[in-house]
Amino acid sequence: MVFTEHQEILVKESWEAMKQNVPELSLQFFTTILEIAPAAKGMFSFLKDSDEIPQNNPKLKAHAVKVFKMTCEAAIQLREKDKVDIPESTLKYLGSVHLKKGVIDPHFEVVKEALLRTIKDALGEKWSEEMCSAWGEAYDQLAAAIKAEMKEEA
Ligand code: HEM
Repeated sequence: MVFTEHQEILVKESWEAMKQNVPELSLQFFTTILEIAPAAKGMFSFLKDSDEIPQNNPKLKAHAVKVFKMTCEAAIQLREKDKVDIPESTLKYLGSVHLKKGVIDPHFEVVKEALLRTIKDALGEKWSEEMCSAWGEAYDQLAAAIKAEMKEEA
C-alpha cells in the first residue's frame, strides 16, 4: 500500500501539536497501555515497583516519546522510500532491548491500540479516521521491522 503525502502531513502535523505536551501525553499513553494489558507493568523498570504510574519520570517519557517520534519518522520514510529505513545499529539495539525485556508480538498490538487512543484523546476535534489510519499504518511497518529483528536475534 502506498503511503501518501497527505498521510505523511497528517502524522507530522498531529505530532507537532502533541509534542507540546509530552508529560500529559506520556502519562495518558502508559495509563492506556496498562488499562489494556495490566501485566505489561512488570516489564517496565519504572513501573514494576510502584502502585501508581509515576508522574514526570524521565524513562517513562523517553519511551513514550520514542514510540511517537519513531512512528512519525516511519511515516516520512514510507512516503519518501516506500519502506521503513532504520539504521542497522538502531535496529539491532531495538531488537535486543525488547528481546531482553521479554516483549512478545501481542504487546505490539497493545501499544498500537494505546498509541491510537492517546492520539484521539489528545487531538480532540482535529482528530480524524484518516489520521488514525495513517498513524496505524506507519506504526505497523515500524513494529514489523522491530519484530523481524527480534526474531533474528532470538
Ligand atoms: C525500551 C522503542 C514497543 C517495552 C525501548 C527503548 C526504545 C524503545 C528506543 C530504549 C529505551 C529508551 O531509549 O527509552 C520502542 C518502539 C516501539 C516499542 C519504537 C514500537 C514501535 C514496545 C512494546 C513494548 C516495549 C510493544 C512492550 C509492551 C519496552 C521496555 C523497555 C523498552 C520494557 C525497557 C524500558 C525500561 O524499563 O527502562 N523501547 N518500543 N516497547 N521498550 Fe520499547
